[in-house]
Amino acid sequence: MNRILLIGSSGQVGRELQKTLPSLGNLIGVSRETLDLTQLDQIRQVIQEAQPDLIVNAAAYTAVDKAETETELANLINAAAPTVMAEEAQCLGTALIHISTDYVFDGTKNTPYTEDDLPNPIGLMANLSCLAKRESAEFTRIPLTSAMPSSEQLGCMAH
Ligand SMILES: NC(=O)c1ccc[n+]([C@@H]2O[C@H](COP(=O)([O-])OP(=O)(O)OC[C@H]3O[C@@H](n4cnc5c(N)ncnc54)[C@H](OP(=O)(O)O)[C@@H]3O)[C@@H](O)[C@H]2O)c1
Repeated sequence: MNRILLIGSSGQVGRELQKTLPSLGNLIGVSRETLDLTQLDQIRQVIQEAQPDLIVNAAAYTAVDKAETETELANLINAAAPTVMAEEAQCLGTALIHISTDYVFDGTKNTPYTEDDLPNPIGLMANLSCLAKRESAEFTRIPLTSAMPSSEQLGCMAH
């Protein structure tokens, strides 16, 4: 059976994924208690110990209002941590799904966005999400599909 490591299992998206992912494999959910994403070595350790076939990152710094003042923290969680996840995924030959945000786009397009649309982030949070997406794709060297599910798909409320 596939081993799926869900990072950020206690968040809004993470809680929904805890309900659906077990149908796809053996789910290992980790929250801040077991994995503090500001500790980059801890990320490596948890992934190496879990030896997952798939990593899903639903964790994020989501305090939009504070992001401009807590830049370092936001950068660590939303950009540096996913980059480390991508490095470890590459070492294990494991796929990484990083849940991003539609705010990587500027919202000026009149038709629905697709995975091939070029991002144009506005604001620090969107910039960091964009950076994480680019770094993840580079490390995994696979055409990483942006995971930007709608609230309906996730079954939860949007921010
Ligand atoms: N909610 C939606 O409808 C929706 C829709 C589309 C995309 N998204 C995207 O999905 C992602 C998650 O959103 P969300 O709504 O689930 O946010 P959320 O409810 O704020 O959850 C964020 C998760 O990240 C964890 N986290 C934050 N800092 C951490 C740290 N230092 N170490 C370990 N864990 C840490 C939080 O842990 P604690 O619980 O301990 O704080 C929490 O579990 C975001 O990128 C968001 O843009 C969300």
